[in-house]
Amino acid sequence: MYGGGSQSRARDQKSKKNVRKQVVTPPVKRFPMTNEAAPTSTKPSSFVPPNRDALLNAHHPNMRKKKEIDPKMLLNVQDYHNQARATLTRNAYDYYASGADDQLTLAENQNYYAKIKLLPKVFIDVSNINTKVSLFNNTQSIDFPVIIAPTAMQRMAHADGELATARAAASLKTIMCTSTLSTTKLEEIINQPEVADTGCMWYQLYILKDRDFTKTLVQRAEASGFKALVVTVDAPRLGNRESDHRNKFSLPDGLSLANLMDDLKKNGEGQTTSALNHYFKNQIDASLTWDDLDWLRGITSLPIIAKGVITPEDAIKAHEKGCAGIVVSNHGARQLDTAISTIEALPAISHALKSINSTCDIFVDGGIRRGTDILKALCLGAKAVLVGRPVLWGLAVNGEQGVKEVLTILKKEFELACMLCGINGTEKCSNDFLLMPGDTVMDKWLRSKL
Ligand code: GLV
Repeated sequence: MYGGGSQSRARDQKSKKNVRKQVVTPPVKRFPMTNEAAPTSTKPSSFVPPNRDALLNAHHPNMRKKKEIDPKMLLNVQDYHNQARATLTRNAYDYYASGADDQLTLAENQNYYAKIKLLPKVFIDVSNINTKVSLFNNTQSIDFPVIIAPTAMQRMAHADGELATARAAASLKTIMCTSTLSTTKLEEIINQPEVADTGCMWYQLYILKDRDFTKTLVQRAEASGFKALVVTVDAPRLGNRESDHRNKFSLPDGLSLANLMDDLKKNGEGQTTSALNHYFKNQIDASLTWDDLDWLRGITSLPIIAKGVITPEDAIKAHEKGCAGIVVSNHGARQLDTAISTIEALPAISHALKSINSTCDIFVDGGIRRGTDILKALCLGAKAVLVGRPVLWGLAVNGEQGVKEVLTILKKEFELACMLCGINGTEKCSNDFLLMPGDTVMDKWLRSKL
């Protein structure tokens, strides 16, 4: 779609800069401490957008003045990331981009994809690629295997925030999972005509100490038409994100955690809180166990997806508790640093669930930036991937249109990766197309002859 012999020299140079490199996390932390390589490969960690504070846009305190950009020059997710970084305030950018502690897992989530090699097969009819995926025993379906991950406070990225993201998801015929920590009320997000008519939305839930309030959230989500509950299971506390501490992260004036306002008020917390950590500490129930899913099961008929599973043992527990799906996730590397990367964790989890004939659908998030990453995740047993930060970068750059463009890029890259690998449908994805780190083609070949 975007490539071709007649590209300008400028575009060629731009795309060369975007060739993905192994990301090395420097020992000393400096802004922008993110695993996603800065625009040039020379000095990633010293990149600072020009005149950050001088460029603050007066009418929208979350945004910097936008430079005119030619959207055609934004060819991939990294281009959107670079542009978003130059657009967002440090408060917002760092909140979205950062991981926990030294951000080693943040880097590894992406790096491990690069360590997995593709083994393409040739002379296969790839004139039609079926990118559709059906979920939960054919009760839901998406046009391509990319779902929008729950990310908090999207109105820091764009004034339209979650409303824009939901419209983009519906127009691309995929699912958006809305965060409990959204800056727009859940009913407003799903009740937009474009979304209500064609969209499929999931709702991400934190089980709070206040069970009555949690129950109200679940009932509101179900009544307004959300089609699954994605329960976060890896956040008894928020992880240690040092840039948020340095920035004294706060939700900008005029924005609020719209679904939690009653709860925040009841518990005496302000809406301009730097108090996300505070809220978590006080309100998230750190005593939760797998048995608490029985309580949830008792108050909803929606499918339950456990998000934050990273070991085969926990995947089996989720299955035993009747989860319709799991998201293999380390919370975008924002919780426990040095936790295993998600794509490295995926094969054992797929194997474990297959060995007990589980029908639990497997999803994976974390570090997906290219169509080849999506393909690798599917070959390792995922039904679909969830993407969070790439969507925020699209939203920051160009609202609904930016999210559509990022999703379209991923879809087209995935289609191309399938074609070039000799895969003409998502159901054909398998381990046969992969060489895992440490394996050799010779060993794989010999094993296949046993
Ligand atoms: C919320 O879920 C966060 O990771 O900040």
